[in-house]
Amino acid sequence: MKIAILPGDGIGPEIVTEAVKVLQALDESFELELALVGGAAYEASGNPLPDDTLALAKHADAILFGAVGDWRYDKLERMFRPEQAILGLRTHLQLFANLRPAICYPELTSASSLKPEIISGLDILIVRELSGDIYFGQPRGLRNAPDGPFQGNHEGFDTMRYAEPEVRRIGHVAFQAARKRTKHVTSIDKANVLETSQLWRNVMIDLALEYPDVKLSHMYVDNAAMQLVKAPKAFDVVVTGNIFGDILSDEAAILTGSIGMLPSASINANNKGLYEPSHGSAPDIAGKSIANPLATILSAAMMLRYSLGRPEQADRIENAVKLVLSQRYRTLDIITPGCKQVSTSEMGNAVIAALAH
Ligand code: IPM
Ligand code: MG
Repeated sequence: MKIAILPGDGIGPEIVTEAVKVLQALDESFELELALVGGAAYEASGNPLPDDTLALAKHADAILFGAVGDWRYDKLERMFRPEQAILGLRTHLQLFANLRPAICYPELTSASSLKPEIISGLDILIVRELSGDIYFGQPRGLRNAPDGPFQGNHEGFDTMRYAEPEVRRIGHVAFQAARKRTKHVTSIDKANVLETSQLWRNVMIDLALEYPDVKLSHMYVDNAAMQLVKAPKAFDVVVTGNIFGDILSDEAAILTGSIGMLPSASINANNKGLYEPSHGSAPDIAGKSIANPLATILSAAMMLRYSLGRPEQADRIENAVKLVLSQRYRTLDIITPGCKQVSTSEMGNAVIAALAH
């Protein structure tokens, strides 16, 4: 099993170090190979996604990714910015399905800004389409407006587009995931305004015929943003496009108390995947040993389950994380009175100790 380790920027290296420690404690036979990505790679080579990093990502069995981005690079031309690395990996590896679970651990209910009764027991799965939509749609660019009321003025434009097979394949992922859960898919779109969404909705309705055991609901994205904070437990699997999924998955993440707890998987048709915490690079707390490594450690568990075919090892990591929470170990982002505050590496060590139980 060869795993590409891409720590990236900000807190990326600190949190990935802990996940690597956990993987090594679990199984000494993993072959781990490190490469630069994002701002760190730009500094070293002038390219946020160097050829050797991409080659490693392509031939590894799975990728464990930290985070990319730092405001120091905000003024760079877009192609040199750290975010291009993750977008490039998604495109080159055709990672079209992004799974973002939002689970509220019982011990962390009070760390959420929402009332405990609204979020206790929350367990939803956001299935975000990751390789299409306005993120990648052509044409896009900056130009002088060729027409319209602002004709002749400088304008920016992007294209939202989805093809039927693209919607169908992400729909299958959502329906199949729902079958292993409480069998309810909510498809989120803006079909009252957008043609792309009308097509999306039609495809979902058609696909549902193949899954008569799964209930399909539809919701407009603006209402979904509201329902997610009002009654999040009404959702089971949420399926949506790239841009809506980007926004709603951050919203869902914070419901759970801390975005520092949430893993994610981005997979392609062959179950090859890139695994990363749902949070970003948090450059403001980088190097302070306070970042929460649990989302990355849980991402390693998802990697074992989805790409490496090792569900027992995934269970062991997930159980170890539950144990450290019940032992009251907390990083700063999830600290509540009566708990023990630990550093990034102390949290990693606590998980390793818990693996032995
Ligand atoms: C995410 C991030 C990325 C995205 C950025 C870093 C390009 O926000 O993974 O959600 O917009 O997809
Ligand atoms: Mg995002």
